[in-house]
This record gives sequence, C-alpha cells and structure tokens, in this order.
Amino acid sequence: MAMLEFDDRAARHIQRVYATPDVVAQREQVLALLSARSGERILDVGSGPGYLVASLADAVGPGGVVHGLDPSAPMNALAAELTADRPWVHIDTGDALALPYPDSTFDAAVSTQVYEYVADIPAALAELRRVLRPGGRALVLDTDWDSVVWHVADRDRHQRVLAAWEEHLVHPHLPAELPGHLRRAGFTVTRREIVPLFNPTLEPNTYSAMTIETIARFVTGRRGLSAEDVDGWREDLRSRGEEDAYLFSVNRYCFLAEAV
Ligand SMILES: C[S@@+](CC[C@H](N)C(=O)[O-])C[C@H]1O[C@@H](n2cnc3c(N)ncnc32)[C@H](O)[C@@H]1O
Repeated sequence: MAMLEFDDRAARHIQRVYATPDVVAQREQVLALLSARSGERILDVGSGPGYLVASLADAVGPGGVVHGLDPSAPMNALAAELTADRPWVHIDTGDALALPYPDSTFDAAVSTQVYEYVADIPAALAELRRVLRPGGRALVLDTDWDSVVWHVADRDRHQRVLAAWEEHLVHPHLPAELPGHLRRAGFTVTRREIVPLFNPTLEPNTYSAMTIETIARFVTGRRGLSAEDVDGWREDLRSRGEEDAYLFSVNRYCFLAEAV
C-alpha cells in the first residue's frame, strides 16, 4: 500500500500544519534540546518545509553552515524560499539512506518526523553516524500513533480510520525501538523527552483540526472505508467540537544522542 506522498499539495499542507502554535512549540523544544552553537555545522535530514533549518541557521549564524536534505522537490522548493536570505543554508536533494556528504562533516544532526517513513532504520542511522564527527550530537524525533487520544462517539469506525492512517508511514510505533537502534549505530543516548501535542478544543489553527483533513483524504478507500464512513468520522469529531466535548493529544518522542 502506498505511503503518504510528499507531492506539491502535501508539501503545502504540511507547511501550514507546521506553522500552527502546536508544531512551533514542538520545534522550540527540539531547538532547546539540541542547543546549536554559533559557528556549528548542522544537518537536518528530511528537512521538509524548512522551518527547523531556518531556526538552526539563526542559531549557528553566518559563521556556521546548515544543510537541509530531502528527496521531495516541492518540500525543497519551500525550504529554499524560506531560507533564501541566509546564504549559509544549503538545501540539498537526497535520501537518508545515502547522505551526500563526506565522513565527519557535521557537529550535529536533526531528523524530526522522518525515520518513521524510512524502511531500513539501521542503514539510515549508520549514515547519520558516518557524517557526524566523533562527539557530534544527533537528535531524532518520531511519533508513536498508539499515543493518540481522540474522543468520538463511534469508536469502532474511529479505530478503523486510525488503523488505515497507520499505513501512511512504514513505522507507526518507532520511538520505543529508537534507543536500541541508536546504540547499535554507534551512539550513546543522552536525553529522552516526550513532546505532547494537546488540543483540548477544536480550533481551526491547530494540529489536530488540520490533520483531520489529511487523515480523511488518506484513508478513504482503504480498509473498506467509504467516503460516507470518512465523512461520518469527520462529522463525529466536528460535533464533539461544537458540543465542547473535544479532546485530542498525541506524543512525539525525542532522543538526543552523542556519536561515540
Ligand atoms: C512529516 S515531514 C517532516 C519534515 C521536517 N522534518 C519537519 O519536522 O518539519 C517528513 C519529511 O521526510 C521526508 N522524507 C521521506 N522519506 C525520506 C527519506 N528516505 N530520506 C529523507 N527524507 C525523507 C519527506 O519528503 C518529508 O519532507
């Protein structure tokens, strides 16, 4: 079954979702954990619309270097546009499994919401380790979709929708396995943090409100879900919002590690 495709439409949608206060707060937590320093060389694997690249560029300043790498041309176009005024940023086309950089190029690397889409995690983390200098930092953040709390009236239909949604990536439950993968790839895990996204009300400019539409589009026609089923699921959530009975949360899990 095809995963989520990062085409032009998806790239623009992700750009909007990742500008919501929920995801801005997530990036602030990531930036605080990585604590990028002036003059550092940093890589963002799967840099998407480029918000994190832009913030990293501001942290390292013009004496540093930031590379954002992504296989998606529409994502790279958004990232290049966002960072055009920072010439120490480079937006590169490439894949986490074959990083186009020499060994020991970077002081630090980040990859948020990316490895969950990559089938071969040991190979991807071996590449990450290779391009970091010894003592360099890696920060990896992914979602466990078992952590979602989302109240609905029709729980059976909701479970079918979420099961179909898990097909949008290769690893819907990667975080528990990340520390072991990092250790085997030559890292020492130094910090483990939870990054919750919490929407206690249904408001338009939130992660969950926008993700309802992403999920609805993706799951229609999968696992026997008809357009009517999916419309019903969407209406279920909307009516809970109107009745002041809405609650959504999902957890990202973040690991900071040092290259041995
Ligand atoms: C959910 S977005 C996250 C974007 C960005 N890291 C962020 O947090 O804002 C996932 C990104 O991973 C990229 N991606 C998917 N497979 C990849 C791979 N094999 N190597 C590198 N990036 C990949 C996609 O193109 C997309 O831009």
